[in-house]
Parts: sequence; C-alpha cells; structure tokens
Amino acid sequence: MRSFDEYKAIVNEHLSDLIADPGAEASVLSEAMRYSLEVGGKRLRPVLLLAACEFAGGDISEALPYALSIEYIHTYSLIHDDLPAMDNDDLRRGKPTNHKVFGEAMAILAGDGLLSTAAETVTGEPLKHADDTVKMRGHIEAAHEILSRAGATGMIAGQTADIRGETLEPTAELIRYIELHKTADLITAPVRAGLMIAGADDKMLDDFTVYARDIGVAFQILDDILDIEGDQALMGKTLGKDAEQGKCNYAYVHGLEAAKEELHRLTAEAKSALSGYGADASFFTKLADSLEARNN
Ligand code: IPE
Ligand code: IPE
Ligand code: MG
Ligand code: MG
Ligand code: MG
Repeated sequence: MRSFDEYKAIVNEHLSDLIADPGAEASVLSEAMRYSLEVGGKRLRPVLLLAACEFAGGDISEALPYALSIEYIHTYSLIHDDLPAMDNDDLRRGKPTNHKVFGEAMAILAGDGLLSTAAETVTGEPLKHADDTVKMRGHIEAAHEILSRAGATGMIAGQTADIRGETLEPTAELIRYIELHKTADLITAPVRAGLMIAGADDKMLDDFTVYARDIGVAFQILDDILDIEGDQALMGKTLGKDAEQGKCNYAYVHGLEAAKEELHRLTAEAKSALSGYGADASFFTKLADSLEARNN
C-alpha cells in the first residue's frame, strides 16, 4: 500500500487524461471541464478507489480510469451543486465557481460533459478484458457500482432530498437520507469499485461497505459542522450558507455538540468494521481518523 499523498499524486498526474478535445467549435467545453477539475480538491474518492484495489491485490493501472471517472462525477456534482438554481455559490476550491467564470449554460454543459465522459470510460474499460470473463465481470460490476450510486437512487436522490429539504421539517430520517445519498454514496462507490476490480470476495466487500458508508456520512456531518465553525480560507468555499438556506443538516438540527459526538461514533464504527484485517487495513483506519480531524 502507498500513502494517501502517493495515490493523490498519481490521480493529479493523470487528472485530465480522459478529457477529449471536442474541436474548435466547442473548445470552451473542455476548458470549462478542466477548470473545475484542475483548480484543486482533496481527491478523496479516487484515492479510495486506488487504495481499495491495491488492498485487495489488484492492479492500480487497471483501476486508474475508474478513479479518474469518480473524480469527474464528483466534480460535476459540485459544479451543478453551486449553480444559482441549486446552492448558488460563488467560491469553490478557493476559486470562482464554474458558472462565475464560464456562465451558467457552460457550467451545466461542463457538468454534463464530465458525467458522460465518466460513463463512457467505465463502460469502455471492461471491454478491454473480454478474453478474461472473470476479470471482465469484476470490471462491469465496478462500472455499475459507480454509475448507479451516482444516479437517481444515489447521489441525485440525495441532492433532490437536500433541495426539497429546504422547505420541509427536518426529521432525523430525512437528514440521514440526505447524508447517505448525496455524500456517502459517492464515497462508498469508489471503495466497492476498487475491490470489485481486484476481484475481492463478498466478506471483504461487506466489511468495506460498512466502513465507507460510515466515513461517508461522517464526512457530510463534518462538512455541516465546518459550515458553522470552519475557516473559509481553508475550506475554499463560502461558509454559513446552510442556515441561510434552511438546509436540513445534522449540526443545525441536533446542535454542534451532538454532531461532533455522531462524527466520532461513526468514525469508531467505521474502524471497527475493519478490525478483522488488523494492521493490514491501517491505511483505511488512519484515513478515518484524519478525516475526523480535517479542517478543509
Ligand atoms: C465537497 O466534497 C462536497 C461534499 C460532499 C461535502 P469535498 O470536500 O471532497 O470537496 P473537494 O473535492 O475537496 O473540493
Ligand atoms: C454537496 O453537499 C453534495 C454534492 C455535491 C453531491 P453540500 O452542498 O453541502 O456541499 P458544499 O458544502 O457545497 O461543498
Ligand atoms: Mg448542496
Ligand atoms: Mg453546496
Ligand atoms: Mg456543505
């Protein structure tokens, strides 16, 4: 296993490799897609995919196109999340949001372009293994995992509940639904997809699904906490907006103290899901701790 920063360096080195040139007539499209990708980001999701694949004995060069694809999907979700009709944000990853630079129409299209590039990539990769049906099956499962958790019962369902939630009574169930889908699904998908590419067994898939779901929900709870008490310069986005927009989030509804307790409980539960792997899983248990302590 490599370190987080080593996986991140691999991702960053190849980040825009899959962004095709659409020709002079539409060159602004690839410019807008690249802008939001290259402006920065933690790269948590692609790092998880590469690490999970390597943990299960897979080849990370085979996993890389899927890792880039999950970062494309995540970046598209942020571009659309920031649009005036959604959260209406001017700042992302420390820079003006995509629609502030390229206009709303181009930001919508850049998001569409990133999602469709990811779909094209993850459905094309399995075809390269047509002579090895076991391996091809793992790759198809990974492709389905990524696209379904990004889709209308996954991240998009979560974003829908998040927007609807602005005008609803915030219940504990609604808040957990939003956390699970808008955020945890795009964190669970890369972990499971990385394992699937490596041909991991069901037991490992189940254990890591619990881990990923827990760190995913914890990640959103801390995002909500940091919206209240984070440092805007470190976060690279405008803070304090969730209260203004009446967002259903854990910290506003249950209070900061309860949110921090839940963050800690979920982090402990995530680590204990991997206790059977001992020190072999230390990349993932240490990552859970560092995500609990993050300030950006
Ligand atoms: C932001 O995700 C959106 C949430 C799910 C809270 P990240 O905090 O991972 O954003 P980047 O990729 O580092 O910009
Ligand atoms: C975003 O949640 C989740 C997705 C983009 C899918 P938020 O709206 O809380 O994320 P930030 O705070 O804008 O990064
Ligand atoms: Mg949002
Ligand atoms: Mg937002
Ligand atoms: Mg937020």
